Amino acid sequence: MDGLKICILYELNEDEAPSVEPERAARNGNGRRPRRRKPVHDRDEIFEALTRLGHQPFYHALDGRPATLTAVAKCDADLIFNLVESYGGNDTRDMNVAAYLDLLGIPYTGAGPHALYLAQDKSLAKKIFAFHAIQTPFFATSYRGRLDHAHDISFPLIVKPASEDGSIGIDAGAVVSSVKELMERIHYVHEQFNSPALVEEYIEGREIYAAVWGSCESAEVLPLIELDLSKLSKDAPRIACRDVKFNKETEAYKLTKSAPAEDLDEETTAQIRETALAAYNALKLRDYGRIDIRLKEDGQVYVIEANPNPWLSAQAEFAMAAKASGINYAEMIARIVGLAMARESTEIRAVALARG
Ligand SMILES: Nc1ncnc2c1ncn2[C@@H]1O[C@H](COP(=O)(O)OP(=O)(O)O)[C@@H](O)[C@H]1O
Ligand SMILES: [Mg+2]
Repeated sequence: MDGLKICILYELNEDEAPSVEPERAARNGNGRRPRRRKPVHDRDEIFEALTRLGHQPFYHALDGRPATLTAVAKCDADLIFNLVESYGGNDTRDMNVAAYLDLLGIPYTGAGPHALYLAQDKSLAKKIFAFHAIQTPFFATSYRGRLDHAHDISFPLIVKPASEDGSIGIDAGAVVSSVKELMERIHYVHEQFNSPALVEEYIEGREIYAAVWGSCESAEVLPLIELDLSKLSKDAPRIACRDVKFNKETEAYKLTKSAPAEDLDEETTAQIRETALAAYNALKLRDYGRIDIRLKEDGQVYVIEANPNPWLSAQAEFAMAAKASGINYAEMIARIVGLAMARESTEIRAVALARG
């Protein structure tokens, strides 16, 4: 598929400058790097890959002002590479942006609004997993004293904001072993995030990421990746907290590393792959996603969460999984573009058929 005009759509954080095409950056003498929330912006790597693939990528940033939204309608792109994770500083508004793209009728990569909604509400996602008999830790959800749901759960527990990602609100204090710690942490989540607290049974075990791509019956799982947390200090819980994920200067970051999972037996691998696929389809993810899994020592597989449109940097787990199956970065991007474009043509065909 060559020569598409592809708009790389992303949200601009308060502390960063917009991306500009490399030639324009050189012309402006703009060598200064903006401050970044993530270690690397995948949008720049995607831009480069799309160029190498013969497409014509360009950037468009949403900054919370409606004018940046209406500009999307006029951007004349064949496809939008949708990297939007929030709108106007609100992390739950990515679904609204996807719904807006649906209304505009511009094809875009990744999950639709329904999947973004289902995955973003971790407690709702867990209820759907339960319906499909997908194992997920027992849990309770509470908001300012009101209980939404509770299994009969036992310590140790982990307390998280019900609708954040990027390990926001997840640090050593999130794992609690007493009623006192539990109550304090629930209070912390309410105060800090004005959000319901999701209280889950803490699953001690290996941390496995399953990258999945495609849609419905044709979805496939890429080789499994493990985040090795075993070298973390014995006093700290073995979790992928914010430091582990993003803060390069911390011990936690330096002592942990993701790599293709080794020494998983065939049966366990098959079970993880099957579980990941079931979770991906249960929440209606499409094109590409990542399912976070914990593997208990006794071999039980638990889904922790499903991530639609995960981070696509070459150093992130999704690209690592593609690479482990012999697919290089540009090929991976080409496949995601192909999946989004194929959906578009299928939908056009379906509408044409329905109209006779
Ligand atoms: N129930 C749990 N048992 C063990 N570890 C957990 C559990 N829930 C979360 N974690 C740890 O915390 C990390 C972040 O939790 P997750 O729910 O995936 O949040 P985020 O959406 O911020 O990535 C996980 O990758 C895992 O290491
Ligand atoms: Mg996660």
